[in-house]
Amino acid sequence: SKKAVLGPLVGAVDQGTSSTRFLVFNSKTAELLSHHQVEIKQEFPREGWVEQDPKEILHSVYECIEKTCEKLGQLNIDISNIKAIGVSNQRETTVVWDKITGEPLYNAVVWLDLRTQSTVESLSKRIPGNNNFVKSKTGLPLSTYFSAVKLRWLLDNVRKVQKAVEEKRALFGTIDSWLIWSLTGGVNGGVHCTDVTNASRTMLFNIHSLEWDKQLCEFFGIPMEILPNVRSSSEIYGLMKISHSLKAGALEGVPISGCLGDQSAALVGQMCFQIGQAKNTYGTGCFLLCNTGHKCVFSDHGLLTTVAYKLGRDKPVYYALEGSVAIAGAVIRWLRDNLGIIKTSEEIEKLAKEVGTSYGCYFVPAFSGLYAPYWEPSARGIICGLTQFTNKCHIAFAALEAVCFQTREILDAMNRDCGIPLSHLQVDGGMTSNKILMQLQADILYIPVVKPSMPETTALGAAMAAGAAEGVGVWSLEPEDLSAVTMERFEPQINAEESEIRYSTWKKAVMKSMGWVT
Ligand code: G3P
Repeated sequence: SKKAVLGPLVGAVDQGTSSTRFLVFNSKTAELLSHHQVEIKQEFPREGWVEQDPKEILHSVYECIEKTCEKLGQLNIDISNIKAIGVSNQRETTVVWDKITGEPLYNAVVWLDLRTQSTVESLSKRIPGNNNFVKSKTGLPLSTYFSAVKLRWLLDNVRKVQKAVEEKRALFGTIDSWLIWSLTGGVNGGVHCTDVTNASRTMLFNIHSLEWDKQLCEFFGIPMEILPNVRSSSEIYGLMKISHSLKAGALEGVPISGCLGDQSAALVGQMCFQIGQAKNTYGTGCFLLCNTGHKCVFSDHGLLTTVAYKLGRDKPVYYALEGSVAIAGAVIRWLRDNLGIIKTSEEIEKLAKEVGTSYGCYFVPAFSGLYAPYWEPSARGIICGLTQFTNKCHIAFAALEAVCFQTREILDAMNRDCGIPLSHLQVDGGMTSNKILMQLQADILYIPVVKPSMPETTALGAAMAAGAAEGVGVWSLEPEDLSAVTMERFEPQINAEESEIRYSTWKKAVMKSMGWVT
């Protein structure tokens, strides 16, 4: 049968904490043509530890590419129309591998992992100069969240890593680097690079000079030769070269030309290119980013300063203020995998709908301590306000509400730092297909919530960066290129007083979650 005729297509790998996806978009309309998603395992070898298998992550990427290409074939779409590939990824998660064998030297230490708490404490006692040393260079607080301390732990505790560093065989990278190195040939000439957005999450990167910072590397004891080259978020890094996966090899020779940490990718995918434009993405965690233009704005209210994007080698850098919430979708996965009160994540909506209220139950999912605005590693999860009347539906509802309350906390911080309150919130990510969650969010923020019809904005942003790269040039980054994306709006439906009462009770619950670990 005849193949459908389309404009140039762009693919995007979206490697998140919970799952991997590959998606293919039409660059003229942003229409999503085909995609495939694979869930990723998380291992919890000890309390507070979170690891993933870098090989499983890589193979999930191959599988998603293969299945997406198969689906395109069934739609009669010729995959030779795919002109570029972008990568977006869970940030901070740390991998060290052997460049001669291509083997990872330890599991990936995931951003949520808390094993470096004592490393952080001892480092914070010997910060040179004033306490601002790390924050003024990186925009980040000294925390278990970022890669430098995870890498320090690997260097201190894993013999294979130490040996590979001594023998000059070790390469460090966040997930983007591991994937791009592997997809561009791995041991056969793979390109070892990262982009400015991912680099800005390592705590080793100077966000002013846009280079690895020698002083920071000395402070954390990191050998600079294992770090990837830092590139812009939109340029050709290398060409796809996958020898051992036949079907994924169908994209052989296609340039990989976009790379952004997932939260930056979503900012691009939502077209938040103007100062003051913001988006909130609901994934494993929840991340609200506000574009601050070419200026680094430092927060007085627990937000991070981070690189938003740099869309081309000669293009200017943009920064963002970020409110990071560690646990959003992860709380639903916990209810599924640890408590077993739902079988699939989608079931949460049905349970919550049955009751339509938490009936005074509050759930603070501080599984990895609390991130913004508290940065409180001693916090742990609590469910409180229980009575004999409480059932699993109320707990499900409280879990959804927790995501919304945490967003309210970071939005409040953002409004205080920026001075001009946001008039509405642009949202995206997998959880936004949950209508109860969206309505609750509008009620708790007390401003309208606006979501695109296509929630995969992260992948779209990576595809846009890849398609716009010099030498590819199939995406212009103008609004008309997003004609396939329509918007849905949720207005607050409760009264303001009720919204405030619920929020202040949440705050009480948060206070109770703190100080569990001493
Ligand atoms: O900083 C961590 C973040 O990038 C993870 O994103 O979508 O996996 O929650 P996500």
